[in-house]
Amino acid sequence: MSTSAYSRYRAAFVEALAQSLGVPASEIDAQVKPADPAHGDLSFPTFPLAKAQKKAPPAIAAGLAQNLKVPGLEIVAAGPYVNARFSLLPFTAEVIDAARAQGTRYGGGDSGAGKTVVMDYSSPNIAKPIAFHHIRSTVIGHAVANLHRALGYRVEGINYLGDWGKQFGLVAVGFQEYGDPTKRQDMAHLVKVYVQANQRAEKEPAFDERARDFFRRMEANDAEALALWKEFRETSIRDFLRIYARLGIRFEHIEGESFYQDKMEPVIEEISRTVGVKQSEGALIVDLPYEENEPPVLLKKNDGSTLYATRDLAAAIDRHERFHFDKSLYVVATDQALHFRQLFRVLEAMGRDFVDRMVHVNFGRVHGMSTRQGNVVLLTDVLDEARSRALTLVKNNIAEGKIQTDDPEALAEQIGLGAIFFGDLKNRRATDYTFDWDEILNFTGHTGAYLQYAHARACNILRKGGGAPTTYDASRLTLPEEQAVLRAIARLPVVVQEAADQQEPSYVARWLLDLAAEFSRYYTLGNQDRARRVLLEGDEPLKQARLALTDATRAALAAGLTLLGIATPENM
Ligand code: ARG
Repeated sequence: MSTSAYSRYRAAFVEALAQSLGVPASEIDAQVKPADPAHGDLSFPTFPLAKAQKKAPPAIAAGLAQNLKVPGLEIVAAGPYVNARFSLLPFTAEVIDAARAQGTRYGGGDSGAGKTVVMDYSSPNIAKPIAFHHIRSTVIGHAVANLHRALGYRVEGINYLGDWGKQFGLVAVGFQEYGDPTKRQDMAHLVKVYVQANQRAEKEPAFDERARDFFRRMEANDAEALALWKEFRETSIRDFLRIYARLGIRFEHIEGESFYQDKMEPVIEEISRTVGVKQSEGALIVDLPYEENEPPVLLKKNDGSTLYATRDLAAAIDRHERFHFDKSLYVVATDQALHFRQLFRVLEAMGRDFVDRMVHVNFGRVHGMSTRQGNVVLLTDVLDEARSRALTLVKNNIAEGKIQTDDPEALAEQIGLGAIFFGDLKNRRATDYTFDWDEILNFTGHTGAYLQYAHARACNILRKGGGAPTTYDASRLTLPEEQAVLRAIARLPVVVQEAADQQEPSYVARWLLDLAAEFSRYYTLGNQDRARRVLLEGDEPLKQARLALTDATRAALAAGLTLLGIATPENM
């Protein structure tokens, strides 16, 4: 893919800064970031220079801004930052044509060509309810996978099912007590049984012991225990796959913790050789220096059964051997930060230096999530509720003449899913947020529906205007509002790169909101002034140029929404 106008401007800015500071461009490249759109396109912070130059950052910024002269760039200091704004006019056609030609692939690039990223995401536990943290992992993981695919990475997405461990014993003994034998293949029933069993085990140590015992039998290859496990596992996977299909998500691999059953002994052996292990209260732990109050890394419990950490160690090594990854990402809640810190520490102590390429892509909690089912949040119920709420919204808007559709039910499903996805992805992943149906599902706020509507609006303008033109005169697009739309479109390739590098889909979400806002400012201009209508009467060439810009906006919105896993209906 050829470099975008944006990246050429960026390179010129970096080069000019480097020259003026007398350092190689590579040294400051990473510091040049996309600016807050109100301040320009790019921004360079001067704080890191303050010490060496013995000057206050704003003074350094002012000095630099004064000296930098780059054709096509307007460079100004704003406090401690040197900001640059591109004059896009000469590149109008280039930006428009790139977006229109690449469609939903616009924004991508080739920085990941020949590289592999392994992604561990979603990873729910079998025969247990999918919790909201699994929804976050699924939605964030899917977007991060898409971002990498867009940059040319080979993505190996792994759904690391929690299909091994004591918790499965709980389901099994729970089933003996509370299960309905005719409903062994009914996921909702299994979940109910699990919840009951879990409550009982908390109160009754003997029952908990039965669950442990069941898992010990599984690890000892007991045929009867394994047969039940297998059946419940299949029931769960069938249910998960149905949900993933509904979400439009697929995994390259569905391989859970049980995949590592026979791969743990060699790893334990390697750890005892390279790092050392010791017995502690009957359990086998990794012999590391631990901080005060830090729980040790357990490899085996006192009854000889293995643990979550043991399997993750085996999995990390196995993934490296199979995929030779350039990055290995774990999209898992911040709650598990200690687990991953310890996992990485053990691998490092083992001398497995690929650990530098592993990242815990953590995310915060969701508050206020409940459904009509009470405290157990079933993902299917959340999705159904999103659809039914969206349907009410769609019907109201049809009645008010605001939207049109031949298939309100299908549109409601797209809007409902879009609400859940965007409602999550607009937040920086590490922050906690409060789930609120009214906030994520409306047509005017920072929502998926608002963006889907902006996209449909662009499609509608194009239909009314007789379609997008093949030739047009880009130099006619001189309104500041047109340049603002263009500037936003031009930024997507840089936003995609940043978002992938930091595993932060919220950058794309913010960008979508910026573009939609600029676009709606633009197309509503005609309400006050007919001469500024997109579908201008009386000046056909100008109308064609405006349609081309509208078509580029449509493509760019579709590209951004698709990266986030959100549907782009053309009609609404
Ligand atoms: N199944 C785990 C849970 O529900 C998440 C697994 C995350 N992935 C991993 N490699 N540990 O909490």
